[in-house]
Amino acid sequence: MLVLVLGLAFANLAFSNEHKPVARNPEDIRREYGSASLSRSDLEADPLAQFGIWFDAANAAGLVDATAMTLATVTEAGLPQARIVLLKGYDDRGYVWYTDYASDKGRELAANPRASLLFYWRELERQVRISGSVAKISAEESAAYFHSRPLDSRLSAAVSEQSRVVGDRRELEDRVAELNARYPNGDIPAPANWGGYRLSAERYEFWQGRTGRLHDRFCYLPGGDDWVIERLQP
Ligand SMILES: Cc1cc2nc3c(=O)[nH]c(=O)nc-3n(C[C@H](O)[C@H](O)[C@H](O)COP(=O)(O)O)c2cc1C
Repeated sequence: MLVLVLGLAFANLAFSNEHKPVARNPEDIRREYGSASLSRSDLEADPLAQFGIWFDAANAAGLVDATAMTLATVTEAGLPQARIVLLKGYDDRGYVWYTDYASDKGRELAANPRASLLFYWRELERQVRISGSVAKISAEESAAYFHSRPLDSRLSAAVSEQSRVVGDRRELEDRVAELNARYPNGDIPAPANWGGYRLSAERYEFWQGRTGRLHDRFCYLPGGDDWVIERLQP
């Protein structure tokens, strides 16, 4: 009986706390942007070149994880899903990252090969959005990159069935130890279900934070042989 009463009291306490203000109210957190500006005349005609200038600036500024980008895909049921992956290459064919082809994102891209990439370079008050169609890169390219990775990364990629449920961490560590023992020289074959995707850009947007939230935004859309650049309201 005492246990029941205590249980009910605890449940009631937890419930009544549900809508109490959290320790730090997000509404009270505010900062100004505006260390730089972006004008139409600053922009390269080719968004790939514009991306390159900003990407180089992010790296020159020593930003941690300047290659980190949010990848958004959509499930077959239409539910958007976003997660971070790391940019591993870009050129006029598109933007490359590596992952497990049988992961959730892999299954989503198989059903709907369109996605959006987002970079947020906080210290530079810059955001870049790139969306378009996605395709797997060649198995040869994926294998070449796989073999360039550190041993630990290769082992993890080879044993992990990314996005599947696992009982505990120990199970994964055991799989790594087994694979490591099987290939003492570290010559782990590139897994068939692991590799790169490339997003071919169909739309870009460059955002620069400005004072008073009157930010600068420009989008690039395909327009025949060239890209059409438009300023967007913030
Ligand atoms: C900084 C950072 C970098 C990441 N890089 C990658 C990556 O390059 N490839 C990858 O598959 N997952 C990467 N992840 C993990 C993904 O965010 C995600 O958890 C994983 O890919 C499973 O996603 P999914 O279940 O939607 O397929 C990274 C996570 C973080 C926070």
